[in-house]
Amino acid sequence: MTDIGNSSLEKPRILITGGSGLLALNWYAAVRDECDVVLGFHDRMPAVQGATGIAIDLESKERLLAILDAYAPEFVVHAAGCTSVESCEKAPDIARHVNIGLAENMAHVCRARGVPLVHISTDHLFSGADMMADEEAPIAPLNVYGKTKAEAELRVLEICPGALVIRTNFYGWGTGYRRSFSDVIIDALRQQRPITLFDDVYYTPILAESLAEAVHDLFERKASGVFNVVGSQRLTKYRFGMLLAQAFGLDPAPIRRGALSDLPGLVNRPRDMSLSNRKVRDFLGRDPGSVSDHLLRLREQEQAGLATELGKL
Ligand SMILES: NC(=O)c1ccc[n+]([C@@H]2O[C@H](COP(=O)([O-])OP(=O)(O)OC[C@H]3O[C@@H](n4cnc5c(N)ncnc54)[C@H](OP(=O)(O)O)[C@@H]3O)[C@@H](O)[C@H]2O)c1
Repeated sequence: MTDIGNSSLEKPRILITGGSGLLALNWYAAVRDECDVVLGFHDRMPAVQGATGIAIDLESKERLLAILDAYAPEFVVHAAGCTSVESCEKAPDIARHVNIGLAENMAHVCRARGVPLVHISTDHLFSGADMMADEEAPIAPLNVYGKTKAEAELRVLEICPGALVIRTNFYGWGTGYRRSFSDVIIDALRQQRPITLFDDVYYTPILAESLAEAVHDLFERKASGVFNVVGSQRLTKYRFGMLLAQAFGLDPAPIRRGALSDLPGLVNRPRDMSLSNRKVRDFLGRDPGSVSDHLLRLREQEQAGLATELGKL
């Protein structure tokens, strides 16, 4: 185990799996002033200043139990996963093992030790025939990634009925080895490189920081079960890019309007992944935020040095 930086014993501690990933690192940045964050690493072990980084073997329940005993987190965020739609389709057995099997392991140990579990799911669970799916909408995944994430939700809740399952789609600042969707657009605009964004794919993205804050609020209010934690605006990827250009004061000219239907070789994907956030709004008594607010916040984060900090990893 590698201990990176100091951890404060006074702060509540959380453990995040998939510690080198986009969500875990932005989550860490969002809560580091209030929480002691333990990042659980797999292959890649970036040196994250101020976090405690540990190697975590999700294959072994014994070793996971030992980690829960050693670190006694207030809750676990399970964010590790096989996240590439194309890779999951090419290697369905690996996708099943990582997205379902390892989530089951985490659910078993959390249940055994009475540690609350936040399981990160996706908005990729539906056929796309309907917009703004709520938590009761029938699941109908179109590809291996969606199927494994859907089954993982069920298994986690069977094993650990008190778990919080979060359906989402987020963006934030990426690392040198993992760029986020917003990074890719900003990089293209700054380099005035053409970029094609789909105008026939709808979603309800949320800034990772706002996602983390909403989940901490849900945890404090003892929420359990499935919650859609997404932004309040349904828009296309093209529209997202145009709003991003505006928020960052960049010329949107390099953005080309494209269509998923123009790329027949891709793995089948839902054309509408938008989720309703009504349940989380009602539960928390507040709105997780609009795309425009989140994009301005993304810019503030860059000005405060977060893009550089994570980009160096
Ligand atoms: N990105 C999105 O917009 C989005 C949208 C909806 C839902 N989600 C969900 O959000 C969660 C986090 O996504 P992300 O974008 O932050 O993921 P990511 O950047 O792709 O990172 C995935 C993480 O999982 C780890 N991992 C992969 N295989 C593993 C294994 N066999 N054992 C242990 N760890 C393993 C990786 O570690 P190594 O690199 O060391 O292997 C990495 O830390 C996932 O559950 C994903 O399905 C993401």
